[in-house]
Amino acid sequence: MFITIDGGDGSGKGLQIDLIKKWFEDNRVDFVFFHDPGDTALGDAIRILLLDRCDLSICPKSELALFMASRAQLISEKIRPALQEGKTVLVDRYLLSTVVYQGYAVGNNEEEIARIWSIGRSLTDSVMPDLTFVLDCPPEVAFQRLNRDKDRIESKGLEYHRRVAQGYREAVRNWSKHAPGEAFLINADAAPEKVFEEIRNVLQTRLNQLKK
Ligand code: TYD
Repeated sequence: MFITIDGGDGSGKGLQIDLIKKWFEDNRVDFVFFHDPGDTALGDAIRILLLDRCDLSICPKSELALFMASRAQLISEKIRPALQEGKTVLVDRYLLSTVVYQGYAVGNNEEEIARIWSIGRSLTDSVMPDLTFVLDCPPEVAFQRLNRDKDRIESKGLEYHRRVAQGYREAVRNWSKHAPGEAFLINADAAPEKVFEEIRNVLQTRLNQLKK
């Protein structure tokens, strides 16, 4: 099973990932965890260019291509082999992040969004998640949680991040037009245990189906 978790910056993704990992351990799910962008030598190098080098001018199409390249490498080196070994794969962010941050948030129309999905599906070799959890949180709330220095993407301002939040909602609404599997919009403006309860219910249902 291939699971991704996504959402705006400061949506509490890190904490939910820890809770999912713990739940997997408690339920003896054989899993591996990766982080997009990164987790390969090429991906780590690209990650530095994309996130840490605030001095570097990166045009929107280059930004899109670099995120896609890091992901293609992660699939080739880590995700596909793990899925072939029958492991459950949990990934922090995936193609949906590119669709939202490099698509919806820069004001792309539906046709351009469809093109990003299509390029993305092709560059992932159709290795697409069975389940995607999207943490939905207003950026005003989320940004208060980010009490550290912001990276290049986080520094893009509140308006950009409002479009990110809106983009996630639209992407989930239109999910079946562009991607296989299922996406769940989870209200993340709530106590972490409440947020995880929603995620756990979906995971439990899936696990029961697999055991049948
Ligand atoms: P990261 O430090 O990995 O953390 P987090 O997911 O905890 O925010 O930051 C990744 C940043 O890159 C984040 O601001 C979202 C952005 N991003 C994109 O703009 N496009 C993408 O395709 C991906 C995967 C991430």
